[in-house]
Amino acid sequence: MSWKSVVLVGVLVGAGATIASMRVTAQEGNATTVVTFNRDVLPVLQKNCQTCHRPGEIGPMSLLSYQGVRPWAKAIKTAVLSRKMPPSFVDPAYGHFRDDRRLSDADIKTLVTWADGSAPEGDAKDKPEPVKFVDGWGFEPDMIIEMPMDVPLQATGTINYQNILVKVNFPEDRWVVAADLRPGNREAVHHMRANVRPPGSTFMKNAVPGVAYDTADPTMRAGRGPAEEPADLLGKYNPGLGAQDFSLYESAKFVPKGSDIIFNMHYTAIGKETTDRSRLALKFTKVPPKFRYFSNSGPQAFNLVIPAGARNQEIVSELSVVADNVQLAYIQPHMHLRGKDYEIRLISPSGESKTIFKSTWDFNWQLGVDLEEPLPLPKGTRIIGVAHYDNSTENRYNPDPTKVVFWGPQNWDEMQNCFLSFLVDPKIKDPSKLFAETGVAKLPKGAPGPTLDALRATLATN
Ligand code: HEC
Repeated sequence: MSWKSVVLVGVLVGAGATIASMRVTAQEGNATTVVTFNRDVLPVLQKNCQTCHRPGEIGPMSLLSYQGVRPWAKAIKTAVLSRKMPPSFVDPAYGHFRDDRRLSDADIKTLVTWADGSAPEGDAKDKPEPVKFVDGWGFEPDMIIEMPMDVPLQATGTINYQNILVKVNFPEDRWVVAADLRPGNREAVHHMRANVRPPGSTFMKNAVPGVAYDTADPTMRAGRGPAEEPADLLGKYNPGLGAQDFSLYESAKFVPKGSDIIFNMHYTAIGKETTDRSRLALKFTKVPPKFRYFSNSGPQAFNLVIPAGARNQEIVSELSVVADNVQLAYIQPHMHLRGKDYEIRLISPSGESKTIFKSTWDFNWQLGVDLEEPLPLPKGTRIIGVAHYDNSTENRYNPDPTKVVFWGPQNWDEMQNCFLSFLVDPKIKDPSKLFAETGVAKLPKGAPGPTLDALRATLATN
């Protein structure tokens, strides 16, 4: 079964669960209607919980079987009623998303009714097919790319971001419909990315495959120039993100023949010397897609300045669409420990502003959402990221409220960007040229900012 059909099954059984629980509502007070695990609860767990709650994943317990779930019935009730689970930070008032992880009221009711009753197992014949996880992967891989050697990791102190080249030398052009990155050492891998290095790129030209290069080393740094920068972000890992599906809109990611892969690793020292060897699984399609699915880092506030002690510092970033036929498909904000909330506004070529995404921020959960429908971004659209930061003592995660904070890779620095995925014409050779830094992105480091006032000033001079 392909991953896509697994997802589809999930959607169908999910809908079934909604109907089942509506039936319960209709017959409330009728003692003969019982919500059972097999018929009503398991479909909800398959669709909403098992990506994280299965062996080897980040959920603290497995929610695959009745035996596994039964002891957690009351805890599940509490977690879903408080909306602590599944983790979701998106404000439902803005935009429509395919998977914002929020449970429907009907699904919550199913879980709560079951927990409040005697949490019965029900009839075995009502049980849906188990969701198939192949060897832990979120789909059946066509290719697995593994780091060629163990990366040694120090016991303590800071580990700068590391880049690791894997000479894949793709034998032909490939359209990738799904990617899944898995850490070799779950404790030590904080998050990671797999980037495509197309043939002819000078990025990490002299690197020895498998060796970890410190990205703070200027000769190896991920340069921002197009010649140096990897072409596309092929996959991401952070806890709970799961496999990424690029096929939602008859779309796929393109990897040109001769490409290599660069793993970009953020490791954390875990108190003892250890090693990591992470892997990337890919699923291909032979059918040329209607759209190329292209990802970048979105608007980035390299010029951010957050004063010491600031409680609610606004920081604004900007990226413009400079070509026709670009659609937005996916949104995943990124900040560090001082982040509070994040919003995406679009300013149309005629100057109208509209918020299309809003969420609160929790550093532990770096989740993204697929748009329900791809959103056309006419040439000249300005994509604005608006974030707030708490650099005061009131933020219990704040590493140092006395410090002025600038852009940087470590957790005690900050970032303000948003991974975005776009649907573009598959014939376009270099989609990075469809975008340009404009407006506030071009401002020098201010103190503090850049802010919405600075954005308004750039609009006024247009
Ligand atoms: C994106 C990953 C993810 C998804 C999806 C997810 N969980 Fe969790 N869950 C976790 C992690 C990680 C923890 C432990 C850390 C925490 O409590 O935040 C957790 C903890 C829990 C706990 C213990 C809560 C506590 O207070 O100790 C319950 C119960 C739970 N999850 C139920 C669910 C249910 C039910 C669903 C689906 C409706 C679900 N989870 C979906 C990752 C996930």
